[in-house]
Amino acid sequence: MSRIRAWLDASPIADLAMTFMREATGRTDPIEPLRPTRPAALAEGRRVAFWSLVGGVGGSTTAGLVAHRSAAGGRAPLLVDLDRWAPSLALRARIEAATIVDALVQPGRELALVSRWSAVPFLPGSAALRGRLDVDRATQVIDAVSGGAPVVLDLGTGPDSLDAGLLSRVDRLCLVAGARASQLQAVFCALALVRDVPCPAGLVVVGVAEDDAALVAERAGLPLLGAIPLDPYLAEDQFAARAPTLRAIDALIRRIA
Ligand SMILES: Nc1ncnc2c1ncn2[C@@H]1O[C@H](COP(=O)(O)OP(=O)(O)OP(=O)(O)O)[C@@H](O)[C@H]1O
Ligand SMILES: [Mg+2]
Repeated sequence: MSRIRAWLDASPIADLAMTFMREATGRTDPIEPLRPTRPAALAEGRRVAFWSLVGGVGGSTTAGLVAHRSAAGGRAPLLVDLDRWAPSLALRARIEAATIVDALVQPGRELALVSRWSAVPFLPGSAALRGRLDVDRATQVIDAVSGGAPVVLDLGTGPDSLDAGLLSRVDRLCLVAGARASQLQAVFCALALVRDVPCPAGLVVVGVAEDDAALVAERAGLPLLGAIPLDPYLAEDQFAARAPTLRAIDALIRRIA
């Protein structure tokens, strides 16, 4: 505790402040002090991918938050939207720019085609892929653009997005689950696919507390990587999050870092 804080606590100002607080909040205990935490960051060269069997569970949002939070704590990761059917991160970023398709067909110009989403270098996805992705070329693009920085991939959804060639260059696959019954069912349906991937996989559950997420992970037989709470800002499609959500993202980053 700082000397100024100790002095304030010992002075009559503290009693006065406590009285005001009780009147304003109806609470008798002091409010828990804010604990600013240093954002967690992915290590140099670390590559992580987010995927779910069904859409709408929060995979893209979690990938975006991991990239932004990691950029605040260390070297900014490259964020790549590889959703081949319904890429949504550019919408979220409110960016209209060159996409992964532009980078795929312009060897040598990849770096010039990368956008920035705040501090995060970002390659938006493209529905022009229509499900087809040249994985070797995509890997070349990612290698050329990332330059040794960490990489966060939004693989999108569906069985075809779990490409073994791509995943052999990834350090961790995060299988993302939502909290609804049908979304949880999709996790158990996805297990047969996840078992075959050439990198370690773990579970991220969106919209539940850590202990419930731990139960789901135990049933699924996957390590729990993260439990991301329901966030009212994210639920309204804003790309802003409350402190508990950011703490959960930090915990996720530390487990996959
Ligand atoms: N932690 C959260 N709390 C509340 N709402 C969330 C949270 N994460 C995501 N959402 C909201 O859920 C919806 C789906 O999120 P998102 O687009 O990230 O899912 P997805 O799994 O990538 O699915 P798709 O690719 O089909 O869009 C969005 O409206 C998003 O704002
Ligand atoms: Mg998505």
